[in-house]
Amino acid sequence: MATEKRPVTIASLSKMKKRGERITMLTAYDFTMATILDQAGVDVLLVGDTLGMVLQGHLTTIPVTLRDMIYHGRLVAKAAKRAMVVVDLPFPHGQLGVQKTLQVSARIMKQTGCQAVKLEGGAEQAETIAALVSAGIPVIAHVGLRPQSVHALGGYRVQRDADRLERDALAAQAAGAFSVLMECVPRDLAKQVTERLNVPTIGIGAGPECDGQVLVTHDMLGLTLGHVPKFVRQLTNLTGQVQQAVAEYRQSVRDGSFPSAEESFE
Ligand code: KIV
Repeated sequence: MATEKRPVTIASLSKMKKRGERITMLTAYDFTMATILDQAGVDVLLVGDTLGMVLQGHLTTIPVTLRDMIYHGRLVAKAAKRAMVVVDLPFPHGQLGVQKTLQVSARIMKQTGCQAVKLEGGAEQAETIAALVSAGIPVIAHVGLRPQSVHALGGYRVQRDADRLERDALAAQAAGAFSVLMECVPRDLAKQVTERLNVPTIGIGAGPECDGQVLVTHDMLGLTLGHVPKFVRQLTNLTGQVQQAVAEYRQSVRDGSFPSAEESFE
């Protein structure tokens, strides 16, 4: 259990970068998991639109709705006592121009209780990021592989355009983003960007030199049914454990050993 109880803020994340302390971010979509991660000391809980793949069985994040994000964001924000809660802007709400993105982001913050939103895009989103920040809405910019543009990018591939990555990250920072999340980029590019930025970078498939790391919690726990990307470290195999427990339960129901006398009322 974590002992540090002071809530994580933009200022504390910035201090962590300055001190060279790595930031931990994990996805959370529900109250129970968010409570466990928060108590374990995870700094940032991301209500990611990956919930479309993990919880809803979609192949991409594109079908996820604003209603889904608000529903799950609320559950996670209710659980978090220390961690910062960040909610993704679902497709296409972050791509509809300054006014619409501002309205939707304000709604997400008001109705979930989160502390920040995550928006896919860099240089092309600079005006929108600046408008959100000046309205008091903290923003993490998501650059490199942008999953909501998976079809335009030709699939989930490593993004190797160094100029674009640097331009996006610098533009997002200049517009006021308090952090830049880089997905699926070569480690030397991620390192270069991390060294150039004053704000913390969070990597996923971006190597060890980022200021922090994020993973989809279900992937990390071995609860993913489909393909697991190369950059995931599976620290346990919950699928196997759940299957084993269910097999035992089924057997004990079938052979009559469950419930026992102790598990029954006289
Ligand atoms: O939606 C999400 O969970 C994400 C992670 C892949 C970082 O953006």
